[in-house]
Amino acid sequence: MPVVTNIDDLREMARKRVARAIFEYVDCGAYTECTLRANRAEIEAIGLRQRVGIDVDRRSTKTTLLGREVAMPVALAPVGLLGLNWANGEILAARAAHNFGIPFTLSTMSICSIEDVAEGTGKPFWFQLYVMRDRGFAASLIERAKAAKCSALVLTLDLQIQGQRHRDLKNGLAVPPKLTLASALDIMTKPGWAFNVMTSKRKSFGNLEGRIPDAKSLTTLSQWIAGQFDPTLSWKDVEWVKNLWGGPLVLKGILDVEDAKIAAQSGADAIVVSNHGGRQLDGAMSSIRALPEIAAAVGDKIDVWFDGGIRSGQSLLKALALGAKAAMIGRAYVYGLGAMGEPGVRQALEVMQKELDVTMALTGLRDVRDASPAILRVS
Ligand code: GLV
Repeated sequence: MPVVTNIDDLREMARKRVARAIFEYVDCGAYTECTLRANRAEIEAIGLRQRVGIDVDRRSTKTTLLGREVAMPVALAPVGLLGLNWANGEILAARAAHNFGIPFTLSTMSICSIEDVAEGTGKPFWFQLYVMRDRGFAASLIERAKAAKCSALVLTLDLQIQGQRHRDLKNGLAVPPKLTLASALDIMTKPGWAFNVMTSKRKSFGNLEGRIPDAKSLTTLSQWIAGQFDPTLSWKDVEWVKNLWGGPLVLKGILDVEDAKIAAQSGADAIVVSNHGGRQLDGAMSSIRALPEIAAAVGDKIDVWFDGGIRSGQSLLKALALGAKAAMIGRAYVYGLGAMGEPGVRQALEVMQKELDVTMALTGLRDVRDASPAILRVS
């Protein structure tokens, strides 16, 4: 087993183990991937101030998210198809998050269903909602999340139309996975993945069972999304979701300050400054560039969270310093899942917390809640 010292090690292990179409679904971005690259590059380009002569013993990475104490200001972002990275991936990631002391968000596009995860973990988790054209179905997902005692609803606003991901099309990404000559050749080199995933109970979208009209006509994931997701989604619908749900609500996919101002008036509890990990509007600005203006405009009215490009505790701390109360991480933990299952997710979280802790010490910070622009070196 290779020594894992950072998230890129987990990525490399996942790349070698997981079928190419699934690994690339996680890894890729939309079109030229310029926003995907900018997310990571721009956060990594921000400088930290090295401070000395400060007592940095007894540090704390703890904070609260939606009124609950968490081990660090991180939640696992909703990511589709976890159960095709590792059998029962959603349950494993939820368990790893719970044991670590942070929330897990189950995607609408998960392989394990809401009920599978509730039963498999026995612990509260968050549910992410895509609003479908069929509002009755969207409402039923909210009811199922309530029945499963989900403790927050994360409504995604930036994927009513899918940005094209070239690699998904080239790989013919389909759910359940389709066996083509190219995928068979790839899978022959990945017997561990094939045995693990192919023998698992579910290989298709657990939440949507019975909703995929004709399995044979479902050629690709992107075609299915185009047919089902509701492009009319508007702020009125946010109110509809809020009223139906009645619990803590998080709005994900805010990148523009005007939208942030509307979101702050919507009665939601938090927003996630996000461009969907560079998977949607290619050419959108990086999340880290959008963050300070949004935090300044609405940070006193609504919790401002962040995602996009975080592969280390250093990057996490920079986002917190620029006004995020917390961050969601996606690829960083999914690489861990694809590499090793539940222990891989735990390892991703441990790597990140350790990096966060050491970086706090070296910037003279003892309490993560005190992160501010004062720890950054601008210019
Ligand atoms: C969402 O479903 C995505 O693939 O980014």
